[in-house]
Amino acid sequence: MKILHIDSSALGAMSVSRQVTAATVYQLKETNPNATVTYRDLAATPPAHLGGELLAALRPQEGYVAPASLHAELALTETMLGEFLTADVVVIGAPMYNFSVPTQLKAWIDRIAQAGRTFRYTAQGPEGLAGGKKVVIVSSRGGMYAGTAYEGAMDHQEAFLRAVLGFFGITDITVIRAEGIAMGADARALALDKALNQTKECA
Ligand SMILES: Cc1cc2nc3c(=O)[nH]c(=O)nc-3n(C[C@H](O)[C@H](O)[C@H](O)COP(=O)(O)O)c2cc1C
Repeated sequence: MKILHIDSSALGAMSVSRQVTAATVYQLKETNPNATVTYRDLAATPPAHLGGELLAALRPQEGYVAPASLHAELALTETMLGEFLTADVVVIGAPMYNFSVPTQLKAWIDRIAQAGRTFRYTAQGPEGLAGGKKVVIVSSRGGMYAGTAYEGAMDHQEAFLRAVLGFFGITDITVIRAEGIAMGADARALALDKALNQTKECA
């Protein structure tokens, strides 16, 4: 079994999602001792954002030759696509930043969302090409959203990830959630404890 472990929190040792992704991977390894783990820290080594030059290289017109300055980013795209496509389980640390995901996590999605690799369009509409894997989204957020009246209007983090992973054909998605992190020490400790307990169920 191949596990892809992704972190995107910028808060380092203070990060809730990093603690919970590590616990999730630990549990998965306990259940599957032969599993291999690939780790990608998107905050430590962020992929470049999609600018005009990079986009032109990712969707080359006939005769296009990528400049040497883009070679490393193109190689990184292939590495990240390979990691994602070959993984059986993907654990994604996804804090809520300004109601969405960290910009580094969005940059990763922008790289793996490739027509012909993770999805394609057919006469019947879009078709996901990356199904058959399990994804665990570790969601951390300062406030409370789940089940509240404004969840639909303000959650562009979990909802976005579910949408894009679904677009890639992934149906086996588990969310481990630690929310209310900014609502005092007790609330933070309770949320973290609950999320760490939940990791035992997803292995
Ligand atoms: C830049 C930034 C933006 C944030 N935006 C939100 C937000 O929109 N809504 C929210 O509930 N919490 C927000 N928070 C709180 C984080 O979601 C919370 O601290 C969470 O634990 C972050 O995950 P982490 O600890 O793994 O970094 C924000 C935190 C940061 C650092």
